[in-house]
Order: sequence, then structure tokens, then C-alpha cells
Amino acid sequence: MNIIITGAAGFIGSHLTIKLLALNHHVTAIDNLSTGFLDNLNPVKDHPDLTLIIDDIQNTSAWDNQAKNGDIIIHLAATVGVKKVYADSYNTLINNLDSTQAVLEVARNRKCKVFMASTSEVYGQSEKPVLSETDSLSVTTTDQGRSSYVISKLTNEISCLNYHQLKSVPVIIGRFFNVAGENQKSEFGMVIPTFIENALDGKPLILYNDGSQRRSFCYIEDVLSAIITLILEPRAWGNIFNIGNDTTITIKELAEYIHKKCNSHSEISYAAMPAERSGKSEIYSRLPSIKKINELTGWKPEVYWQKTIDLLIANVKKDLIIDRL
Ligand SMILES: NC(=O)c1ccc[n+]([C@@H]2O[C@H](COP(=O)([O-])OP(=O)(O)OC[C@H]3O[C@@H](n4cnc5c(N)ncnc54)[C@H](O)[C@@H]3O)[C@@H](O)[C@H]2O)c1
Repeated sequence: MNIIITGAAGFIGSHLTIKLLALNHHVTAIDNLSTGFLDNLNPVKDHPDLTLIIDDIQNTSAWDNQAKNGDIIIHLAATVGVKKVYADSYNTLINNLDSTQAVLEVARNRKCKVFMASTSEVYGQSEKPVLSETDSLSVTTTDQGRSSYVISKLTNEISCLNYHQLKSVPVIIGRFFNVAGENQKSEFGMVIPTFIENALDGKPLILYNDGSQRRSFCYIEDVLSAIITLILEPRAWGNIFNIGNDTTITIKELAEYIHKKCNSHSEISYAAMPAERSGKSEIYSRLPSIKKINELTGWKPEVYWQKTIDLLIANVKKDLIIDRL
């Protein structure tokens, strides 16, 4: 199968590119390297079944001739990451809206299917202990920088469903709940790589407020298997699925576990939420119901959070040894 991946040099996209090539698919990988890194694709850079295009997906003339009738576009390209979204909320909105529109138009013209990456953040401030696909979605006030990311993903979902219903473009929407894995970068504000790097470097692990925020972390391999399972399931098209791990931990527990596993001498300290993140935009708990994907496909996560953290610590230590050679 020819699979087109947007955002292929990013965290999830690079893992997916490598996985799909290993499964003997042809992959057309597109990325403008705004937050992605070519190094992420080093293991496959000379693979004969990889077509790599470094360009903005909004420049559709650079890649639409790669898309053939029946191909699948896995649309991961977006402006993401707390720091990046707060730093430029307007361009987050514009990039995510215009990029998705470009993908949907190529899919319509070339008769392709689209898997679109959405996010658990669309559930907003929901206080439900477990979140299902049919639950209400919400956005905090527009003066919260993070809202632009949520608004863009909500709008992307509506556009995708509209193209599915009215323009014969089969779509699947996957709402990812915090994905964790190798090559995830701390510089964009991701908590796990930040804590591991700080614990190994002797820098403080900072908990905002009391660290009682609850999160579920889904290991990258589980996310890849969910995407692949869904695109191969004919009954999945036209649907929205939560993709995540159905257990949670608090950020404090996460910090303490990483601290212990790294034999760290770092301090675990507490701080007030940074001004731009304080107030209504902080979400205290987010746990997915994975009943829908599980009942349709049998998919469930295989790797739970302790194992995820152990794998990631081992990977960072391996990179540190290589860097020092
Ligand atoms: N990582 C998570 O925990 C998580 C959680 C929920 C949703 N998601 C979604 O999954 C997708 C992938 O996230 P990620 O964590 O791999 O992020 P990432 O930043 O590592 O990857 C996004 C990639 O898209 C590229 N990109 C952005 N705009 C582009 C454009 N206009 N043209 C071409 N390339 C462009 C970037 O250079 C980057 O390589 C995103 O859509 C994100 O919203 C991720």
C-alpha cells in the first residue's frame, strides 16, 4: 500500500514511517521541519520504499502527484507542544486549519482516505472520570493561548467529518491521549523527556501547583498499532476513536518514579503554574475510554506506564553514552 504521512519527521510520524516501511508499505513522508528533525528518519533515510519530501503540506503541488486512488494519507502535521502553542497561538491556529484543508482537498481530488490526528484536549475541562467519544467537547476562554490548538483540532474534526459525509473522502479521526516514546523532545514542553533529562542532569523536577494533575501516557508502539489496526478495518471509516492508555498517574507520581529509577540527586520542587498557563486552561484529569476501538478491532494498549518510563530512561541513557563516545 502507498501511505502518505504528513509530519513524518516529527515524533509520532517518524516512528510510524519506520514501522510502515518495516511492514513493506511504500511511504511518502512529508515535513517542513518546523518542529520535526530529519535525524528522526535516519534509520530509513536510504530505504528504497521511502519518498521523502521536505516542504510545507500547504504547498500541495510539491506532493499531490504522489497521492493515487485508494492511498491513505495519515495526517499528523500540526503545530503542537505547550511551549510552541503558547508562544504563537495565532499561527498555531492558521497552520493547523490550512494544513488540514490542504490534505482534505488533495484527498478529494485524488480519491484518497485520510486518518487525522486529533487530541484528548478537545474534551476541555470535562470532569467525567473517563472520557468517551460521544462526550461533550469544550474550549476555555479565547484569551488562553492553548485554546488555539484545541479550536484548530475541533475545527479539523468538523472539516474531516464534512468531507466524509458530503465529499466522499473516507476519514478516521484518532484522538490521541498523551503519547510517550523515544525521540520525544523536551524543548517543546513535554513532561516525560523533561523529567528524565533533568533527573539525569541533576536539575530540579518542577511540579506545578501540587503535582496532582492526572494523565495517562500511551507508549508510541501502542499508538502505532492502533493507527495501523484502524486503517485496515473497513468499519472504522467515518468514525472518531480515543487512542490512549486506560490507566492514569499523577504528575507527582511520575516525577517520583523517574527520580527513583534514575538514582537522581535532583530536587523535586513545587512552583506556581506559569502566568500564561494559570487559570482555566489547566486540565486536572484525562482518562480515555477505549471501549469503542477495543470492541471494533480488539486493540488495547500492551505497555503500561512503568514499563514506558523504564524504556525511555534506558533510551536516554543509551543516547548519553553515544554522545560521550
Ligand atoms: N504527542 C502527543 O502526545 C500527541 C497528543 C495528542 C495529539 N497529537 C497529535 O499528533 C500529531 C503528531 O504529533 P507529534 O507529537 O508527533 O508532534 P511533532 O511536532 O513531533 O510532529 C509534527 C510534525 O509536523 C510538521 N509540520 C507542522 N506543520 C507542518 C506543515 N504545515 N507542513 C509540513 N509539516 C508540518 C513538523 O515539522 C513536525 O515534524 C499532531 O497532529 C498532534 O496534534 C500528539
